[in-house]
Amino acid sequence: MSRPAESRTAGSRPTEPRPIDATLFRETLGHYPTGVAVVTTTADDGTPDGMVVGTFSSVSLDPPLIAFFPAVNSRSFARLRTAPAFCVNVLAADQEPLCRQIATSWEGKFDGVDWRPGPLGSPVIEGAVAWIECTFEDVHEAGDHFVVLGRVHELAVERSTLPLLFFQGGYGRFSPGSFVAAPDPELIQAAHLAETIRAQVEELSIEFEVNCSVLARIRDDAVQVLATNRAAVVDSPPLGHRQPVIPPMGAVFMVDAVPAEVDAWLHRAPDDSPETRALHSTLLEKVRERGYSLLAAEPELLERHREALSAFEQSDRLPRQERAVQQVTAELTDLFCPDLVPGRHYDLASIVVLVPTAEGLPQMALRMTGLPGHASTEKVESWIDGLKWVARVAATAGAPG
Ligand SMILES: Cc1cc2nc3c(=O)[nH]c(=O)nc-3n(C[C@H](O)[C@H](O)[C@H](O)COP(=O)(O)O)c2cc1C
Repeated sequence: MSRPAESRTAGSRPTEPRPIDATLFRETLGHYPTGVAVVTTTADDGTPDGMVVGTFSSVSLDPPLIAFFPAVNSRSFARLRTAPAFCVNVLAADQEPLCRQIATSWEGKFDGVDWRPGPLGSPVIEGAVAWIECTFEDVHEAGDHFVVLGRVHELAVERSTLPLLFFQGGYGRFSPGSFVAAPDPELIQAAHLAETIRAQVEELSIEFEVNCSVLARIRDDAVQVLATNRAAVVDSPPLGHRQPVIPPMGAVFMVDAVPAEVDAWLHRAPDDSPETRALHSTLLEKVRERGYSLLAAEPELLERHREALSAFEQSDRLPRQERAVQQVTAELTDLFCPDLVPGRHYDLASIVVLVPTAEGLPQMALRMTGLPGHASTEKVESWIDGLKWVARVAATAGAPG
């Protein structure tokens, strides 16, 4: 509802915009990160030309429009705008040298740059994350820059990798919230503690001819810090492998967690509905009561889970791949924590028990995989007892003092 006319005219008149200091403008706007793209065209003689822009943006889906903002005095853009089409190449994090070459050189910008013509003939740069080929829809002058609207004709994602970012005058890369590549003091502590129980973990592997591994919880990941493989098939991932703790996986780490932590874990499921939360909470309750978690073997689902995890790691943990991991992890819910009924037989993929650690140490767990199929309830219970025994030894080793 609009206000009465009197109150709109009362008081001071709207002030004229004050002159803005150029340094303050650049400094303030530099706090907004951008991607980095190379807009390319082909000159009449077939040679590639281009300019680096940070001002690339998606504008409209229907019709498909994008925009970028070249300076009105840009000599590069003066050449580019005479071409019938252009291609926006979204640079990858490892293409900073190429970016610097194209942004700073006058001649020979494309020396040593691999490219191929796109469907409309504009250069598609090899190794770029994605490209969008367009025709000029509109070029509009706005202060000392143009607003260039491009009509999208063709586009594709080329490489599942991190894009190059520009922030506060420097280049960088996106770091997903839960991932820090730097050496982690908690991880080193966990690896030390795992070493103290190596003999017992080995013993367990040999006794049951299975694979055993020690996992440490580092923020939202379970990281493998020790592995002993004695099963016929080595199915445990390499040391240092990180697996995001997404429900129902990682329930053992939640048995003593405060409600806010459990809530954050439940929230990591792709479906955050009350029904799914209730289901995961029930599974967590089972793990709390029993002191272990089981995962039934369903080879096809487990293979998809492994593939999603490996794509996630290989892509530098891109958010898109993380969503794929969340999705396949959610599909494991039906396999999680089957009840052990006397007289039955089980095909299990893994058993996990928590290792109680002292305050200040990362949470740790023991996992058994490579388990023979069609195992009797008694056999499964003997595996669980073996894991609980090593967990108790580890708890003593990790106790303070
Ligand atoms: C990361 C980065 C982002 C840039 N973004 C833009 C931009 O959005 N618009 C623009 O006109 N120039 C931008 N530039 C500058 C141009 O790439 C290029 O250096 C400039 O156009 C050179 O001047 P010239 O076109 O007269 O040769 C950017 C440069 C870098 C390194």
